[in-house]
Amino acid sequence: MAGKRDLLSMRDVREDLVGLLELAGSIKNRTKAGEPYEPLRGRSLAMIFEKASTRTRVSFEVGMTQLGGHALFLSPNDLQIGRGETIADTARVLSRYVDGIMYRAFKNENVRELANHATVPVINGLDDREHPCQIISDLFTIQERKGKLSGLKLAYVGDGNNVCNSLLLGCAIVGMDMTAGCPAGYEPDPDLLEEARRLAKPSGSTIDVVSDPASAAREADIVYTDVWVSMGQEREKEEREKLFRSYQVNAKLLDRAKSDAMVMHCLPAHRGLEITDDVIDGPQSIVIDQAENRLHAQKAILARFLAGV
Ligand code: CP
Ligand code: NVA
Repeated sequence: MAGKRDLLSMRDVREDLVGLLELAGSIKNRTKAGEPYEPLRGRSLAMIFEKASTRTRVSFEVGMTQLGGHALFLSPNDLQIGRGETIADTARVLSRYVDGIMYRAFKNENVRELANHATVPVINGLDDREHPCQIISDLFTIQERKGKLSGLKLAYVGDGNNVCNSLLLGCAIVGMDMTAGCPAGYEPDPDLLEEARRLAKPSGSTIDVVSDPASAAREADIVYTDVWVSMGQEREKEEREKLFRSYQVNAKLLDRAKSDAMVMHCLPAHRGLEITDDVIDGPQSIVIDQAENRLHAQKAILARFLAGV
């Protein structure tokens, strides 16, 4: 298919992120009103998961069904990829059967390799560098709650990981200020940070990385955290849990933020580590609404990338 469009990075939506969030809002309203909306009738999405997933798997599968289409869950243990078939051949063959491929991978290079050889759109369902579907959805959630994006301050506290990298790019694109508070050696990817700073210039928003969690959280409208040990880093668990201890989002840290600050976490959460029970279950936490919006935002992504809506 000529001119197919992939969603591998937040960079891929820099031109139409605002429109995509509007589309998510209208799709959510139609769903809540019980109005059928089926632009993907008869279309199929292949979903390759190299790693575990609750939200991404279920929201993409349900989303495809609600849009009139169908999704297939594929694990590398069952695919011939697990027995040595190349990613390139898999991409070429799947492209003859399905209308799009969602891929959750260990390595960003593998997502790029799949996209290079697929003739249908490829959507990154999380890799070691980015998690764009999560961040598009999170920006939709913030806009829904606060009525705006530009001018807000998001504090990300913890590991400078895939979620943090995509948040930096996303905040820069929509003109939100973001400060990441990360321990030395666990800062976000330097190239993506530089890209975020470049993208932030036209809107005049600031993108900062600091090592002090309390100063990151100061006067924030949103306090966001994620796990200290991402999938694929299990061997570093012990040292990470020790090193990140002072980066916990707890009541004391939340006190640094604005009094109406919202607490966000992409989930799954490790309670008692990166976030305490009282905070994640407290009145400022919006994590379950945040998770719900994966469904609505990804339906917008699917409608746009697979059907050009
Ligand atoms: N936030 C997120 O992507 O969750 P899953 O790993 O459950 O898909
Ligand atoms: N940073 C986490 C996000 C999980 C949704 C990971 O990669 O495991």
